[in-house]
Amino acid sequence: MKKKNLIIFGTRPEAIKMAPLVKEFLINQDKFTTKICITAQHREMLDQVLDFFELTPDFDMDLMRPNQNLFSLTADIITGLKPILEEFKPDYVYVHGDTTTTMAASIAAFYSGAKVCHVEAGLRTFNKRAPFPEEVNRSVTGSIADYHFSPTETSKNNLLNENISSKNILVTGNTVIDALQYSITKVSSASFQDQETELVKGILNPKKRLILVTGHRRENHGQGFINICNALKQIASENQDTQIIYPVHLNPNVQKPVYDILKDVSNIHLINPISYPAFVWLMSKSYLIITDSGGVQEEAPSLGKPVLVMRDTTERPEAVDAGTVLLVGTNSEKIVSKTNKLLNDNVFYNSMSMLHNPYGDGTACSKIVEFISKL
Ligand code: UD1
Ligand code: UDP
Repeated sequence: MKKKNLIIFGTRPEAIKMAPLVKEFLINQDKFTTKICITAQHREMLDQVLDFFELTPDFDMDLMRPNQNLFSLTADIITGLKPILEEFKPDYVYVHGDTTTTMAASIAAFYSGAKVCHVEAGLRTFNKRAPFPEEVNRSVTGSIADYHFSPTETSKNNLLNENISSKNILVTGNTVIDALQYSITKVSSASFQDQETELVKGILNPKKRLILVTGHRRENHGQGFINICNALKQIASENQDTQIIYPVHLNPNVQKPVYDILKDVSNIHLINPISYPAFVWLMSKSYLIITDSGGVQEEAPSLGKPVLVMRDTTERPEAVDAGTVLLVGTNSEKIVSKTNKLLNDNVFYNSMSMLHNPYGDGTACSKIVEFISKL
């Protein structure tokens, strides 16, 4: 009998990191029946990823609402999954990371009796308010999951310290590296054309150094984003030989301060969230990256790009330890001073821009499939 898999995700980063796992299961159709369920906690930003990875969901819950809140989103995911789980009756449900989709889907899957498999398991800041609500989402999912796929030994050790049995944990590397390799291969093929990559090429001045910015974290909403935008405005004005490109997250709590403060600055380009291949291209062309994103902290080291992280703590200490990621919080002065140092001090720049890859070699998904095959 084939094992039945249901892979559930809802946001852009989950889609990027689950897409290669879906593909790996589909290669193994002799052993598995695999279906995709999207909560659509995100809509446009999720659909962009589905398009690029050529994935068609079997179930689309279409839940996103403008400026949605955590209470109703959580309730809608759990309630909405009931008929899907009852219809398909999966043996294994796969969730990823730390979003509301992850946490709520793991609860629903547990209620249904399916085994819960947590991809990107065991990351911790040990501060339940940062990232908010993701630290708690990830811990709740970890306590529900039957099988834990950890990207690194550090994340495995966090789970061992929570008394999770080592036989249920597998260190795989992060599936984001599998996704990055898929993207680089697809983009290199002669037939591939991405309109959005062409569009950003048209906006940029090849003579100016490029600073790539992203940001969206809930704990930075309000004053945090005002500080971030003021810092970016100062960096742009003090460094006319650079240009900043900022694909602005669609969350209205991000869009408003960013457009209010930065829309008229001539060397800052505010654009909509862009396709994954265009974003990978932008990372590869950047001089440095300023972000509060989890995924970007993992991708940039393997492209040799220095990253300033606008957070006070991170559940991804590996690149900080290696020296390519530096935490700067949301203090304007610190963001400006570290950026200026990277722009003007070659020794400092070189110390943060070596290539290294703490998040694996792109074989995370095949390791997960092999593990499940043997159960
Ligand atoms: C969510 C995750 C966060 C993850 C991030 C990745 C939670 C609590 N947060 O945060 O962990 O790092 O996604 O980006 O799960 N919106 C759109 N179109 C889209 C996507 C979002 O318009 O395609 C707007 C909507 O108004 C939506 C709002 O953004 O209500 C917030 O989306 P939500 O998923 O609740 O939170 P994020 O801040 O995106
Ligand atoms: N990304 C993208 N387009 C963009 C910005 C980011 O495809 O305009 C990708 C990026 O390469 C990374 C992921 O989205 O893989 C990160 O998503 P986000 O920062 O929204 O979430 P987080 O990783 O913080 O959960």
